[in-house]
Amino acid sequence: MPSTRTPLIAGNWKMNTTLAEARILAYNVVHMVGVPKGVDVAVCPPFVSLPIVAEALRGSPVALGAQNLYPAESGAYTGEVAPNMLQGLCRYVIVGHSERRAYFAEADEFVNAKVRTALEYDLTPIMCVGETLQQREAGETEDILRTQTSGGLADVDDVSSVVIAYEPVWAIGTGVAATPDDAREGIAVIRNTIAEADGQEAADSVRILYGGSMNPENVASLLEQPGIDGGLIGGASLNGEQFVALVRAAEERERE
Ligand code: PGA
Repeated sequence: MPSTRTPLIAGNWKMNTTLAEARILAYNVVHMVGVPKGVDVAVCPPFVSLPIVAEALRGSPVALGAQNLYPAESGAYTGEVAPNMLQGLCRYVIVGHSERRAYFAEADEFVNAKVRTALEYDLTPIMCVGETLQQREAGETEDILRTQTSGGLADVDDVSSVVIAYEPVWAIGTGVAATPDDAREGIAVIRNTIAEADGQEAADSVRILYGGSMNPENVASLLEQPGIDGGLIGGASLNGEQFVALVRAAEERERE
């Protein structure tokens, strides 16, 4: 049975783009992408650029996402951004990115709090999971993916509202993407973990993206794998042409 999951191509701009650059990049994407057929598209600029990018996206099917949130509505959390500040502005929010896990010591419990908070505020979390090179070489990939998936989704009633991104840490920003086989296998572990906890129907409804050096050259071979429902894209999302080429590849796959 063909998948009923609509693929998602999401750009993670990370800590890149000034206000002026964000505005230009957003207008370029909107202009070039038009109305994608059968594919959801989102861009996730830095917090300060969200309003200006929202303005550029107005009237376009390209959705807006944030790169993080803090799991509280207000309070003494200097430097953090609350979910109610993003509600109504963004459709998506990235949580548990490996850079946050590595540099800001975010553990599964905290990621889980962010996932649950996002859902409470009508934001679709894009929850990232993935093993480091060291963990892969030690044969721990499956354990890590299972732990991060079940930890991040703990006490989530409707897992189908969550998007998961399988991002092997060693593939992020390195120019060396996972092989299509490795990406498919990692995603299968994640989907099986969800099936065991929440049933096959729930697992089949969750969109699971691949992320890590996805680019116009490797996108087709990754997206043709069963179970890969799109991509979370860093580097290539900073270039309008490249990002839109990924959207076109996803449309192409949907047509086949
Ligand atoms: P990359 O980043 O495409 O630059 O590897 C992906 C990500 O970190 O989301």
